[in-house]
Amino acid sequence: MLHTAVTDPAAARDSAAKDPAAGAPGAPAESATLISYEGVGKTFETLQGDVVAVRDITLDVREGEFVTLVGPSGCGKSTLLNMAAGLFEPSAGLVRYRGELVAPYNQRVGYMTQNDHLLPWRDVLGNVIVPLEIRRVPKAQAHERVAALLEKVGLKGFERAYPSQLSGGMRKRCALARLLAYDPEALLMDEPFGALDAQLRLKMQIEIRRLTKALGKTAVFVTHDLDEAVALADRCVVFTHRPGTIARVVEVPLPPDRDLLGLRHNAIYRDLTAELWDLLSPDMDRLDD
Ligand SMILES: Nc1ncnc2c1ncn2[C@@H]1O[C@H](COP(=O)(O)OP(=O)(O)OP(=O)(O)O)[C@@H](O)[C@H]1O
Ligand SMILES: [Mg+2]
Repeated sequence: MLHTAVTDPAAARDSAAKDPAAGAPGAPAESATLISYEGVGKTFETLQGDVVAVRDITLDVREGEFVTLVGPSGCGKSTLLNMAAGLFEPSAGLVRYRGELVAPYNQRVGYMTQNDHLLPWRDVLGNVIVPLEIRRVPKAQAHERVAALLEKVGLKGFERAYPSQLSGGMRKRCALARLLAYDPEALLMDEPFGALDAQLRLKMQIEIRRLTKALGKTAVFVTHDLDEAVALADRCVVFTHRPGTIARVVEVPLPPDRDLLGLRHNAIYRDLTAELWDLLSPDMDRLDD
């Protein structure tokens, strides 16, 4: 096991089952609650005064679920991920991970942002192996694991390429392999494909959905893109303009092994994206004031 197991998973599942906040729709009933926000608010004190980023957020993310967060700029989506990662404490309410309060830093989650933060002086292998070096995994074992990960993300054969020699999509795959090298239980992803062109983006969406499901990872994925929010999600959480509150939690009843290429022709997908559009369009012409 490469990740740091803090709690016995069975005990954690029991404690999560007793958690009164458990029971949100959208995941198999037997799944444990992994991340729970219980009446969460976050206010930042700035020189210009207090900024209320989010208010009254109550949300459970269950083990194995793919949850997308969508909402206007500044409504607190990144702030919610940061609190789950233990980078910020909430100003009100509680954020739990497997029933325990999230402490700085939550090592059981992996975080992927829009910027891939690859080390330019290291090749692909050298980048992906970093988490294993930090954990002092024996070299042969680490190399074996990196080789398996590179195969999974479709970068086999590019071990010796440097980030400057990679396409945008390959850089994302490399960052994804490095994230998976930590073997986190949950992947927190903040607009990870925002900078990619439409075709590459679709390719990465297919990969991320396939990999998270195949590896049994839980995913919380922030996006501005309504199509992406529906295409990837088991559940999609729609936020209001700042201070962000939950406007709607939308179940996405598309099959787990959905064909992302063919979704455009799927009536459920079309109806849901239209519903989200109607929900969010009143906020479209508001500035992030
Ligand atoms: N460290 C911080 N200090 C002060 N204010 C902050 C901090 N982090 C976020 N904020 C403020 O909190 C609000 C929510 O920010 P956040 O980055 O979470 O929004 P977001 O929904 O992720 O926006 P975007 O879609 O543009 O990425 C914003 O008004 C932002 O200015
Ligand atoms: Mg953000």
